[in-house]
Amino acid sequence: MTHTVAVRPAGLEMEVLDGEDLFSAAHRLGYRWPTVCGGNGTCRTCFVQVDEGAGNCSPVGPLEREGIEALRRPVDGRTRLACQLRVVGPVTVTRRGVRRRVQE
Ligand code: FES
Repeated sequence: MTHTVAVRPAGLEMEVLDGEDLFSAAHRLGYRWPTVCGGNGTCRTCFVQVDEGAGNCSPVGPLEREGIEALRRPVDGRTRLACQLRVVGPVTVTRRGVRRRVQE
């Protein structure tokens, strides 16, 4: 089963698999997502703002909580780390810099 995640401002839609995090889904689907750590949950570069569907998002775990707090954002479900975020239904997020990878 997949869940549609809309990404603003690029206006793209990703079909994210059950149990798959947004960062991994983006990579699988050929998108470049801002990162330094490569999805390990330590760089915080992948953060997103959840605009719609916060109730469809996975709970914030300890590693992600630490990252969000380091970003000086409230842990209220609005700011999430894409490499830690899993969804169970439609969600809309904002993250600048997400774009299709250039074919090499
Ligand atoms: S990719 Fe580094 S924290 Fe998510």
